[in-house]
Amino acid sequence: MTVAAQPPALSEGDRVTDDLEVVAHLHRSRLLDVYDVHSDRRDCRCVAKVPRPDRNADAHARERLLSEGRLLLALAHPHVVRAYELVEEPDPVLVLEALSGDTVGRALARAAKPLSLHDLAHLGMHLCSALHYLHGRGIVHLDLKPQNVVIDRGMAKLIDLSIARPPGPIRAGTGSRRYMAPEQARGDEVGPPADVWGAGCVLYEVATGQRAFGAREDGYEQLERRPEPAARLMPSLPREVTTVIDAALDPDPLGRPTVEDVADTLDDALPD
Ligand SMILES: Nc1ncnc2c1ncn2[C@@H]1O[C@H](COP(=O)(O)OP(=O)(O)O)[C@@H](O)[C@H]1O
Ligand SMILES: [Mg+2]
Repeated sequence: MTVAAQPPALSEGDRVTDDLEVVAHLHRSRLLDVYDVHSDRRDCRCVAKVPRPDRNADAHARERLLSEGRLLLALAHPHVVRAYELVEEPDPVLVLEALSGDTVGRALARAAKPLSLHDLAHLGMHLCSALHYLHGRGIVHLDLKPQNVVIDRGMAKLIDLSIARPPGPIRAGTGSRRYMAPEQARGDEVGPPADVWGAGCVLYEVATGQRAFGAREDGYEQLERRPEPAARLMPSLPREVTTVIDAALDPDPLGRPTVEDVADTLDDALPD
């Protein structure tokens, strides 16, 4: 089997639109390219998300980006990335604030030791604050994972609302294989508890340095087993903290704590 060569991304100096000049290509995923750009109009750095050149004609890639842009433009929260504008035609371009830090995923890959309780609790409270706001607006994120959280000057920012939507039934397996809630993997109804699961996965990984579940070629580990208890891997953390992380990964959505419960537990674990 031959694999088609991927078309090149835009290079430094190329234009995404008349207003946006490429500074660097940041990321390529299955559907999208993400660029660091300079906006002439704003005279500042921004980030531009666009469909990959080989996906530009793909209605699914365009629709996901348009849906993310429309959602983000209606939101304003300190722990959710801010959208500046959405160009719809001829090709979609979503212009976002440029976040300066690493994703939690990259920070974890670099870190020699797990985060302190202080940093873990603050990251969790920031995520819960963002989720409380999204859920109050009738949206579930459904793609919480370390790669979709950026630490920007000490503030956790939730990014990537490409599959965010109102609660309800979902096509089985929509999301990121190792991080999606069991009900999301099965294609049942998804609601706020699916995001509690995602936040639990992020906190588990940050607290223990290990992923809660592996990613298989097919199938879902989270449908077959519970993760090793965080309490057993990290006996030095306060018991309430590891207990709430383990409870967030309850296979039964109704057995999970709410985002407010998780935030309160993390807050209580911090010294006054
Ligand atoms: N506003 C931003 N500021 C800085 N980096 C970003 C921003 N948005 C995205 N990125 C980078 O691009 C990557 C992919 O962006 P994301 O929105 O997650 O797209 P995808 O839907 O392709 O996963 C992120 O993991 C992050 O490294
Ligand atoms: Mg992403």
